Amino acid sequence: MASEEWTTAEHVDRYLQRADEYPRRAEGESVLLEQVPRGARRILDLGTGDGRLLALLRVDRPAMVGVGLDFSALMLDAARARFADDPGVEIVEHDLVQPLPALGRFDAVLSSMAIHHLEHERKRSLYGEVFELLEPGGIFANFEHVASPTRRLHLAFFAAIGEPLEHEDPSDRLLDVESQLAWLREIGFDDVDCYWKWLETALLIGVKPGIQR
Ligand SMILES: C[S@@+](CC[C@H](N)C(=O)[O-])C[C@H]1O[C@@H](n2cnc3c(N)ncnc32)[C@H](O)[C@@H]1O
Repeated sequence: MASEEWTTAEHVDRYLQRADEYPRRAEGESVLLEQVPRGARRILDLGTGDGRLLALLRVDRPAMVGVGLDFSALMLDAARARFADDPGVEIVEHDLVQPLPALGRFDAVLSSMAIHHLEHERKRSLYGEVFELLEPGGIFANFEHVASPTRRLHLAFFAAIGEPLEHEDPSDRLLDVESQLAWLREIGFDDVDCYWKWLETALLIGVKPGIQR
């Protein structure tokens, strides 16, 4: 099964314990938060994990309605526990290998460190589905683990985050920034760019043409 490691308590616990420690993560997330309009009402988070990104967005968007998708029972439990007292956030079980379920339209679709677990072909089709789900003027922001251009830089990234290469997720399917930006443009997104990058961590954004934000 794809991304099988996310079904084990050991892998999930290890990630959640380290989630705040990844170098520059807060910096990249802060750029994402700046780009998502404060007035965004409906926000979808793909591969939400324990709901980290939705919780960050919630701080400045008290009226937002958040939907978080994930396929890991352990992550779903953690996210449901986080938002147990928050009726404005819904957590939905879904395997991103499958087409997105009918969830209505969104002002923003986000993802953090999740889509790189999908095969490249599925990444591309998912980006197309995201475009269809967005309202005109809606934003897609993917804070992502991307491929290095060389093996040397890949090793340097793992050294920089203090992880031995053996800890690389077996399900990682890293893809370079340029290919992903080209797909977003082909699909029809506007304002497509890499808005922030540090080594293998990048923030890829596209906006669905329509009403000015
Ligand atoms: C590195 S964690 C990131 C979690 C969260 N977005 C965050 O930023 O902390 C990757 C997440 O992607 C989820 N994931 C991986 N493959 C998936 C799939 N095929 N369908 C749904 N979720 C998936 C995992 O369960 C996990 O929660």
